[in-house]
Amino acid sequence: MLHKFDVLILGSGAAGLSLALRLDPGLSIAVICKDELHENSTNYAQGGIAAVLESDDSFAGHIQDTMIAGAGICDPAAVKFTVENAPECIRWLIELGIRFTPAHEEGGYPYHLTREGGHSHRRIVHSADSTGKDLEETLVGAVKKRANVRIFENHIAVDLYKKHGQCCGAYIYNIDADRVDSFSAKATVIATGGASRVYLYSSNPSVSSGDGIAMGYRAGCRVENLEFNQFHPTCLYHPQAGSFLITEAMRGEGARLLLPDGTRFMPAHDERAELAPRDIVARAIDYEMKRLGIRNVFLDISHKPSEFVRSHFPGIYQKCLEFGIDITREPIPVVPAAHYTCGGIRVDLNGCTDVPRLYAIGEASCTGLHGANRLASNSLLECLVFGASSARHITGLLKENGKVEPVPEWDDSRVNPAREEVLLLHNWEEIRRLMWNYVGIVRSDERLRRAKARIDLLKVEINDYYARHRVNRNFIELRHLIVVAELIVDCAMRRKQSIGLHYNIDYPPA
Ligand code: FAD
Ligand code: SIN
Repeated sequence: MLHKFDVLILGSGAAGLSLALRLDPGLSIAVICKDELHENSTNYAQGGIAAVLESDDSFAGHIQDTMIAGAGICDPAAVKFTVENAPECIRWLIELGIRFTPAHEEGGYPYHLTREGGHSHRRIVHSADSTGKDLEETLVGAVKKRANVRIFENHIAVDLYKKHGQCCGAYIYNIDADRVDSFSAKATVIATGGASRVYLYSSNPSVSSGDGIAMGYRAGCRVENLEFNQFHPTCLYHPQAGSFLITEAMRGEGARLLLPDGTRFMPAHDERAELAPRDIVARAIDYEMKRLGIRNVFLDISHKPSEFVRSHFPGIYQKCLEFGIDITREPIPVVPAAHYTCGGIRVDLNGCTDVPRLYAIGEASCTGLHGANRLASNSLLECLVFGASSARHITGLLKENGKVEPVPEWDDSRVNPAREEVLLLHNWEEIRRLMWNYVGIVRSDERLRRAKARIDLLKVEINDYYARHRVNRNFIELRHLIVVAELIVDCAMRRKQSIGLHYNIDYPPA
């Protein structure tokens, strides 16, 4: 089937939907998502969105905190651009009807501002501990009112289509109809989120398999900084919990990290203790777990009044209760897990990639904001800021010149239906485990060489299978995942130093 739109947006998280809403309503827009509309990282975000909102805070402060967290290798122009555009994005969300938690006291900024690791000021607006759910609901509600936006759920992008050097759209597999459709567009936007599911343990939903990064790379875009994968220090450790995050805002409100015997260990690792940037906290936990041979550490907020805990963290309180843990009375078992992809497709301040008519925004992109490590709550912000800036650029581009070649029909007449689905599952597991074991929180040259050798083998198997079989969701994701795994390892091998999130024992930090 052939579809034609002005703008094709791959992804329905904060990046994709804010872009759809910021674009000229006269444009026809397709929003594609490979699962249900709200199933994305945005929906699971807890902590909040960072912005300078109080008169005693400053852009200079937010810029400095971002640069420090990024170990000094952020792009200063991207940091300044994001920080300075942040307050407008927060006002825009408030106008759309988001229900941020109100301030406890009257007279100052009307919404409560929390603090997270690496921030020198309270500057994070949030909706209790379910900011992402509130944000996604707000954006979905607004998008559904737009007659010019058509939503395609359960559609997964297979590849971009390029003609005469420019992007003209994409091939997209319709999961329910079991067929690949052609989508032509005058501008195509990758807003497919991050790649943290390339790791065995992750805080992310299953959609985060790095699809857009792989497609952009195959289409000729530069990718950067993929060695910087952020591991969140505190995911709930419970056999039935799946990937449930315990927000950093809990440490911002005074929670302490403890060893099983009750000893507080963070002050011995960093003077900022529990509020040190995430990479330092995650490495400290990793170190203590390996030193003591323990499966988890504990996060304790039970010294705070019970009403304070329940009102600040209602979602976490309820979720932990389901697993028999009353966080007002006892510590929470936690472990680090892959959380955020700092690198991605290199873009400029308008989200433009190296390929004409192709944009990348949100976690799939590398704007230069995060450098070697992302400051907490700067990523939803980046989605919103670059959603707005790319909307302006696309609107201008389409006014100037909107002619592209149509995407031809997909031809799968010479391939067979997938026969041994289980082989794909084995490949999935192998990749995620080898990435966790060899390319995790602590790396070495030897581990990276081993990872590379295994990825080379898997790549041959997966490409061979692709040449002979029809696609399905699992397979499409696997084909993207192996590319992203290889890119992460290549980036890590090229970086001959330990900096930010990339910690290689063969290059001790200066
Ligand atoms: P996502 O929200 O992940 O959306 C990706 C979209 O792309 C989905 O709709 C998916 O279906 C679609 N997609 C993917 N591949 C394809 C494909 N091949 N074809 C079609 N569609 C595709 N950041 C903060 O700033 N503050 C926080 O408090 C915070 N808390 C977090 C808590 C958790 C548990 C997690 C996981 C992340 C958190 N983050 C937080 C990070 C932040 O949520 C993400 O970086 C951000 O939401 C990414 O938004 P996005 O729009 O780029 O991608
Ligand atoms: C959290 O709530 O701890 C996550 C915040 C973030 O990823 O920015």
